Amino acid sequence: MTQSNVHIVIRRYQPSDREAVKTIFRDGLMEHINPAFMYAMTRPLHITVSLCFYIGGYVMSGQSVVLALVSGGAYIGFVCFCCYEFYAGYIRERLNTDMQDIPGYYLNNPDNCFWVAEAEMDGRPQVLGMVAVEGKNDPGCKGKKYGELYRMTVSSTCRRSGLGLRLAKTAEDFCKERHFSKIELSTTSPQKAGVALYLRLGFKLILVHTQFETPKWMIWMTRATILVMEKNI
Ligand SMILES: CC(C)(COP(=O)(O)OP(=O)(O)OC[C@H]1O[C@@H](n2cnc3c(N)ncnc32)[C@H](O)[C@@H]1OP(=O)(O)O)[C@@H](O)C(=O)NCCC(=O)NCCS
Repeated sequence: MTQSNVHIVIRRYQPSDREAVKTIFRDGLMEHINPAFMYAMTRPLHITVSLCFYIGGYVMSGQSVVLALVSGGAYIGFVCFCCYEFYAGYIRERLNTDMQDIPGYYLNNPDNCFWVAEAEMDGRPQVLGMVAVEGKNDPGCKGKKYGELYRMTVSSTCRRSGLGLRLAKTAEDFCKERHFSKIELSTTSPQKAGVALYLRLGFKLILVHTQFETPKWMIWMTRATILVMEKNI
């Protein structure tokens, strides 16, 4: 599907969008589990440790190939669990906080907003993407606010047709209208498409860290990092 053959409207969130928005949000994050796992398992640390588990299992079990495979497989399974939980835990957390009450969180405050992209498909309106902004006090610019960008997601059925750019532009225009100093966002290193989109829009990478909502050891196991990007407006 391309934007040229379907008319997509970007509008403020309505309560009837709730289920579609939750599904797109969940799917848009869960798709990063496999790439995160592939990345983690190709790091020297995990290659070395899993080999140690295979060899250690083999030696300690009196040369049992089965126990060697179980031992190495258990370690790889644990890395997989960490990559899964890194995203699934975040999704659970968000679905119980801002995504639980989008009108209350984003629409009742003039400095916040939540938009959806919608198109008529087979005679029925369908949500194809979303983005949100929360206005926050800017510690580096007294009396000013900046916009934190959240929930940028486009349905996998209509990627690479410019909808991400349109959603980001909508959020940026809102921040300009509110006279915010900048737009900031955080993403994770496996979210390559998002990072490419933000770089294309003129965002700069300002910080790389590993402080996340999941326990520190878990993010360490994934070998992922949190990227903070910003754009002055
Ligand atoms: C990130 C995301 C919103 C992009 O949406 P999109 O509608 O496909 O993006 P666009 O079509 O507007 O792409 C605009 C530009 O971003 C860059 N880009 C987008 N997806 C890309 C990808 N998979 N690989 C490389 N560059 C990409 C390109 O520069 C692209 O321009 P081009 O198509 O002319 O080359 C979408 O991939 C998505 O929802 N991903 C899952 C959720 C997610 O990770 N969101 C980011 C949260 S921080």
